[in-house]
Amino acid sequence: MLSLSGKNALVTGIANNRSIAWGIAQQLHAAGANIGVTYLPDEKGRFEKKVREVAEEIHPAFYVPCDVQNEEQIEATFATVAEKWGKLDILIHCLAFADKEGLSGDFTAIPREAFNRSLEVSTYSLSRLARSAKPLMTEGGSIITLTYLGGVKVIPNYNLMGVAKAGLEMSVRYLASELGPANIRVNGISAGPIRTLASSAVGGILDMIRLVEETAPLRRTVTQTEVGNAAAFLCSDLASGITGQILYVDAGYEIMGV
Ligand SMILES: NC(=O)c1ccc[n+]([C@@H]2O[C@H](COP(=O)([O-])OP(=O)(O)OC[C@H]3O[C@@H](n4cnc5c(N)ncnc54)[C@H](O)[C@@H]3O)[C@@H](O)[C@H]2O)c1
Repeated sequence: MLSLSGKNALVTGIANNRSIAWGIAQQLHAAGANIGVTYLPDEKGRFEKKVREVAEEIHPAFYVPCDVQNEEQIEATFATVAEKWGKLDILIHCLAFADKEGLSGDFTAIPREAFNRSLEVSTYSLSRLARSAKPLMTEGGSIITLTYLGGVKVIPNYNLMGVAKAGLEMSVRYLASELGPANIRVNGISAGPIRTLASSAVGGILDMIRLVEETAPLRRTVTQTEVGNAAAFLCSDLASGITGQILYVDAGYEIMGV
């Protein structure tokens, strides 16, 4: 029953084969969606090369550079979507950033620049990308972002990213309210801890995974594929009545008190 056949999906946030965005892109592709990929450009083109190596097996319609701090690149990204596809059905927002000072030490010590940069990349970017996606979602659409329990509860070292995720989760609700009349649904997936490039920057990720393996109802953490499956469901007509929600894909960890 789950089919994304004929749907056009723009996927942000693939860095390598461990990226959650890669798990999502694979499952959207498996459900029949056409995939367009953005990557964070760097001077030597190494990130682009890596992303192309990883994603080539799902034959993306295009790869475009999109640093979400760069207005021109955002506009060029959606111009490419308009040119190649004419309409967009799915937007996957699967990116975040915090400087080192934001992910350890005292919360009161977080520098202003680090705070602002993290909120711009990790939080504001969802609304910014949604703004450009909206006029292309002419037949309705689905926008998904990735969040974490650290945006709701205090998790050691998650610090600044916790604030960014709290803002992101509230953005999901405001965006869902604004875009609902256009039949554009906006939801977040709160994933359990998974070892990736970004999560390795958070001190103690391995301890976090161990704790989840000991205490989560399913006695394990989750995989990129499981997150991808939930994303495919949320993007499909099976979830046509669901918007503004945060869905926990965390082996049940969130329900536990101790
Ligand atoms: N790994 C986990 O345990 C976990 C758990 C819950 C939520 N998440 C969230 O999942 C999302 C994906 O992270 P991941 O764990 O797959 O790590 P990842 O390192 O594979 O992905 C992070 C992505 O963010 C991109 N990015 C950073 N700054 C950017 C910018 N300025 N413009 C455009 N892209 C930028 C990177 O290029 C990278 O592709 C993040 O929002 C993260 O907070 C991760």
